[in-house]
Amino acid sequence: MTLWQGRFSGGPAEALVAFTASLGFDRRLAADDLRGSRAHVRGLGRAGILDAGEVAEVLAALDQVEDELARATFVFAAGDEDIHTAVERRVTELAGAAGAKLHTGRSRNDQVATDLRLWCKRELTAVADGVLTLQQVLHDRAGEAGDAYLPGYTHLQRAQPVLLSHHLLAHGWALARDVDRLLDARRRLDVCPLGAGALAGSSLPLDPDGVAAELGFAARFDNSLDAVSDRDFVAEALFALALLGVHLSRLGEEVVLWSSEEFGFLGLDDAWATGSSMLPQKKNPDVAELARGKAGRLIGHLAGVLTTLKGLPLAYNRDLQETQEPLFDAVEQMALALPALAGLLATATLRTDRMRAAADGPSAAAVDVAEHLVAEGLPFRSAHALVGELVRTSEERGQPLALTVEAHPDLGPEAGALLEPGVAVTRRTTPGGAGPGPVAVQLERFAARLAADRGRLDDGTARA
Ligand code: ARG
Repeated sequence: MTLWQGRFSGGPAEALVAFTASLGFDRRLAADDLRGSRAHVRGLGRAGILDAGEVAEVLAALDQVEDELARATFVFAAGDEDIHTAVERRVTELAGAAGAKLHTGRSRNDQVATDLRLWCKRELTAVADGVLTLQQVLHDRAGEAGDAYLPGYTHLQRAQPVLLSHHLLAHGWALARDVDRLLDARRRLDVCPLGAGALAGSSLPLDPDGVAAELGFAARFDNSLDAVSDRDFVAEALFALALLGVHLSRLGEEVVLWSSEEFGFLGLDDAWATGSSMLPQKKNPDVAELARGKAGRLIGHLAGVLTTLKGLPLAYNRDLQETQEPLFDAVEQMALALPALAGLLATATLRTDRMRAAADGPSAAAVDVAEHLVAEGLPFRSAHALVGELVRTSEERGQPLALTVEAHPDLGPEAGALLEPGVAVTRRTTPGGAGPGPVAVQLERFAARLAADRGRLDDGTARA
């Protein structure tokens, strides 16, 4: 039996039911649907539309539905098109005439928008929490890394030595922006659509402000048409998740590179590596590869939802149901990816000897020699050209650059000493730079940011 049977002479076609049903995925909204219904029923009570006895009866029925869902004894019926229909049907079975009043002044249009916002508030907070855990691992590994250094790359060519902690924290700061975006999206979606009805509000004395407050929302909607048709928050959440996915893909790619024999910078713990079904010697970085690969799916979800929303007329359209699965999937993928990457990084061996050997290339500190000349008054362009020539000469002669530099009349041993292994990284002294001084400051700032962001997680959910 459908919710709209009064108007129709017969039941719906089987293929219509199969095509339009959303119960297969929107059961994830059950807890939020129950919360929304409780608030709505209390609002109807305050408005005098249901008497106190009826409110109590419906609330008791909602409690029982919750219990049945928790115990998996809830029996879904053939006509349960979505979770909203299923809950209302069961409440009516349990609470009779009072139950049949539950949907007074409400439409599934404002109901689903409310459920989805409640779901997002909680789940985006959980994703942000997972990102903070990964950041903590990066912070801890950066702290342990001490004065270890590796080549910094541009164009994937060795460029200048950088502290390992600096490199790890670079990923950490990108993730800090993700946390900020997730919490910012959460703040903007913190608006309750309940009371908008199908699209225009109601003739009944509903109490959207009271309902919004009871549900822990910061505000109620301002425009009923906007309230039921707005899925900006889904698109924003998907953007924040897609960009987070892009960041995880870049981290994943570096783990893939670093764990290759060619780099040899990182050894995977056995628990965080996979083997080959054919090649006995293999140890593969599948977690890192999937972290890289999932970004494609997340970007696809964002593009798909934006395309669904594009050109939709006001107000509710069934197309909006299509925004749910991408959102659920994106959040579920993150819930899997974040702990996996955190575990991999927490347990990986960082081969600082290999990193050092790669960073101590003969000309890794060429720019320091040029800057030495600058300190003596030479224009940088001339200094650059002179050192470039010395690099070429040393390569032609097969002679270490340090010897070529020392032999040059304008340079000598002091300049040659700059090319000693391990010296270059200590000379990166400017704020935010890659040397020990600024990185010590950075590590403290990063820890402070982590603590502050942890504090922000509760804002906005505290009311709920
Ligand atoms: N399952 C539907 C959705 O997610 C609920 C709203 C149905 N509203 C309607 N007017 N058919 O969009």
